[in-house]
Amino acid sequence: MDLENTLKHIENASHQAIEYLSERANLEKIGKITAISVATYVVANFIEVPKIFIDIPKGTSFQMFRDFHDKYGPIVRLGPKTIAVSDKDLVKDVLITEDLPKGPLYKVFQGHGKLSIFSATDKEWHKRRRRVVAPAFSVKYLKSLEPFMHNVTLNLVNKIDKTIASDHGDDNVGQIDIWTLFKSFSLDVLGETAFGTSFNMIDDNAHFIPKAINDEMRNGAISAYYPLLSKIFLKGAGKMNPKINEFLRRVIDERLSGTEKREDILQILIETKEADEQADRLNADAIMGETALFLIAGSETISNTLGFTVINLLRTPDVLAKLYAELDEVHLEEGQLVFDHDQIKNLTYLNAVLYESMRINTAAGNALPRITTGPTKLAHLNLEKDTVVMTNFYHIHTDEKYWPSPYQFKPERWIPEEQDNFEVNDLDAFFGFSAGSRNCIGKNFAMQEMRLCLASLLKNFEITPIAAEMEQAKELRTYITMTIASHTFDCKVKRRTL
Ligand code: HEM
Repeated sequence: MDLENTLKHIENASHQAIEYLSERANLEKIGKITAISVATYVVANFIEVPKIFIDIPKGTSFQMFRDFHDKYGPIVRLGPKTIAVSDKDLVKDVLITEDLPKGPLYKVFQGHGKLSIFSATDKEWHKRRRRVVAPAFSVKYLKSLEPFMHNVTLNLVNKIDKTIASDHGDDNVGQIDIWTLFKSFSLDVLGETAFGTSFNMIDDNAHFIPKAINDEMRNGAISAYYPLLSKIFLKGAGKMNPKINEFLRRVIDERLSGTEKREDILQILIETKEADEQADRLNADAIMGETALFLIAGSETISNTLGFTVINLLRTPDVLAKLYAELDEVHLEEGQLVFDHDQIKNLTYLNAVLYESMRINTAAGNALPRITTGPTKLAHLNLEKDTVVMTNFYHIHTDEKYWPSPYQFKPERWIPEEQDNFEVNDLDAFFGFSAGSRNCIGKNFAMQEMRLCLASLLKNFEITPIAAEMEQAKELRTYITMTIASHTFDCKVKRRTL
């Protein structure tokens, strides 16, 4: 097949895929479109074209990239102007030393031209916006966000209690789909902290905003990559969904006219209107752009990490027992169902469990693209301007040279005193929250939220596995974030006496 025909074939496949994608669940849609876009972007130069066609839309490209590195080494040339790297020092060179900007793929997150700290590719623009938004994620401000996370965690505990009660078993055991429950949990936390209101997803799973924003991102992604196609096939393409704007404008107006100050992320964004410089003042559109992206960057990353953590704990009963023992050393007051963050933030094993889960089930499982802006030297390679460099965290996280027995779930790796028990791990080879100027701004927020949720869940309930669910959970996919293929995971829950 000559190049022209290959490209035609790619285009046709992408078109068919997009029609098909319009039928599927929302976040998966965005992820797959991102994936298809990567395919279209990279494939023209690719050395193993047929494979990438199967793996990227299927969500198994994280395994494909890993296999390429296993076969060809830490630098794999995907085409004349695309390489992938999986060596921790090289990845640091890309993200920290060279600080390469994000590649053109991030356009799929600029729904209808809306830039945000996540999607921006221009370094100066990003630097300025990140400085403006950063106070909302400061360690100090996280304290004021805790009550919101606390309330949502309490809702989660109450929801499980209700499920146990309604299951009516004599044994006081209930069955819950913890994967879906964590998803609702993470959306509710973002509703409370970034949108100034509860989405009540744990209770009724019906608020329109999460779905509307996912649709918005999907349409924006398609418009960015396939403008013509989107005009023909997508209803309302090129236009913002007016309901989202109305919703956010109302929330902002209520804030501005009210006397009560709610100390959340939205408040910080609204208060930028007092900034000295005009360029630092965010209008409603800009606020909408940022908060919509928090919903994409900060919901599934959290819920899937929590989901994988529960699955990993159920697979390793000795680890689960050790975590229960650590949590049992911390006492709740009479009537208290949810921990205060101060009570648990320094628990060694709890933190190790979360980090170990993020290592094995890397949220950013697909290689993340950066691009050179001029001639760049990377190891022995002289890269031309506009070379795409894919940084492969998943391979680093499962590379034997950094992590002995890499597929074993061993939180002890993260505890220096316990590393004697087996070979020493290179804790520096961890990129769960990325690194450099584009690292995760929500890292501390995420750790606080996950600690509160996991610790309170286990303090209140005994969790036990269901064999068929455990088997099914072995099948992994990565679209935007790593997930289980089934998108649901049931386990048994039983109340513990506090
Ligand atoms: C377990 C939870 C989380 C994980 C594993 C995670 C991981 C990451 C990673 C790997 C990146 C780099 C992405 C890239 O370069 O394309 C990133 C960036 C980002 N994350 Fe997170 N994240 C988590 C939670 C959150 C939360 C809760 C929020 C917000 C509420 C958030 C907001 C962001 C933003 C805005 C960026 C872009 C930062 C920039 O480019 O300056 N993340 N995250």
